[in-house]
Amino acid sequence: MTGSNAETPDILGRAKPILVTGTTGRHGGSGRAVAQSLIAKGFRVRALVRKMDERAEAVAADGAELALGDYADYASLLRALDGVSSAYFCYPVGAGIAEAAGLFATAGKETGLRQIVDLSLRSTAPDSATPQGRAQWVAEKIFEWAGFSGTHLRIAAFFMENLLKNDAASVRDSGQIANAFGDAALSWVSAVDVGRLAAALIANPSLVDERVLVAPGTVHLTYPQIAAEISDVLGRRIGYVELSTDDWRQALIREAEARGEPNIRGADHLAAQAKALRARIPMPVSDVWERLTGAAPTSLRTFVDAHRADFTPL
Ligand SMILES: NC(=O)c1ccc[n+]([C@@H]2O[C@H](COP(=O)([O-])OP(=O)(O)OC[C@H]3O[C@@H](n4cnc5c(N)ncnc54)[C@H](OP(=O)(O)O)[C@@H]3O)[C@@H](O)[C@H]2O)c1
Repeated sequence: MTGSNAETPDILGRAKPILVTGTTGRHGGSGRAVAQSLIAKGFRVRALVRKMDERAEAVAADGAELALGDYADYASLLRALDGVSSAYFCYPVGAGIAEAAGLFATAGKETGLRQIVDLSLRSTAPDSATPQGRAQWVAEKIFEWAGFSGTHLRIAAFFMENLLKNDAASVRDSGQIANAFGDAALSWVSAVDVGRLAAALIANPSLVDERVLVAPGTVHLTYPQIAAEISDVLGRRIGYVELSTDDWRQALIREAEARGEPNIRGADHLAAQAKALRARIPMPVSDVWERLTGAAPTSLRTFVDAHRADFTPL
């Protein structure tokens, strides 16, 4: 689809807040990077947060105003979207995105929202191999049917932050990474760079014409190569162990439960992706990041170095 982003920049009147969701994220945390980038560009940002905790305080310290709310609480969405023309919509990898998008879009229609940049993924399709890809496709359609302009930002890469969520504990505790990707060449990007790109799309609605922007990663790396890179940065050997998709799925479910964040959808999504990528579906890389944001993307070495403490035993 083309031409959907012909909105005039008046939707971004600097006095109006831009609603940014997902600023307190514990996975990619892309929303915080969106908020920081928009604030740095001089925009007023309102962050939707579920709790007034230390993560929300950090977002306020960045310069955002806070709106207490939840995708499941319609009245809170009406309050958060009041006076807002443009929004960033981010939902975690987990069940419930289509319902959240429905409530968000309905509240937005009520309050005069005009543009949404939503974070999505390459496997978004009605016949996607992953349940998250199918649900995310419904969310995208809801925003289109509701008549919003904006971009579905489909990331065709893994977030480097997955290494913190899925692998850092085993790197710390047993000096290894274990999953079902084997030696498939995966493409990677930092969620901070994703946030910067989303902010660029919000700040400049005519940056791309397409309704769907597929943004490939910045670098190709297999998991054995990642283990070698982490070993190099940390100065100790980190091994790689290949698991079957079933064993890995069970391990992901157990680990999420142990963290107090049960997420069967997340495990199903990752296991389905590993199955597809082991069949050698190619993952592209591209220079879209530098071209559209003007900033060089984060390298894996810089990322690991910045998070050295997460990979290091106490
Ligand atoms: N990870 C990857 O490799 C990858 C690759 C490509 C695309 N993606 C896409 O990236 C997206 C996830 O982005 P991310 O990693 O930046 O997100 P994230 O860090 O997981 O953050 C999710 C945010 O959503 C908030 N949230 C959850 N439920 C909510 C609710 N009911 N109401 C209001 N807020 C709620 C969370 O708040 P709390 O902190 O309060 O829970 C958190 O701030 C997904 O759409 C996924 O498809 C991920």
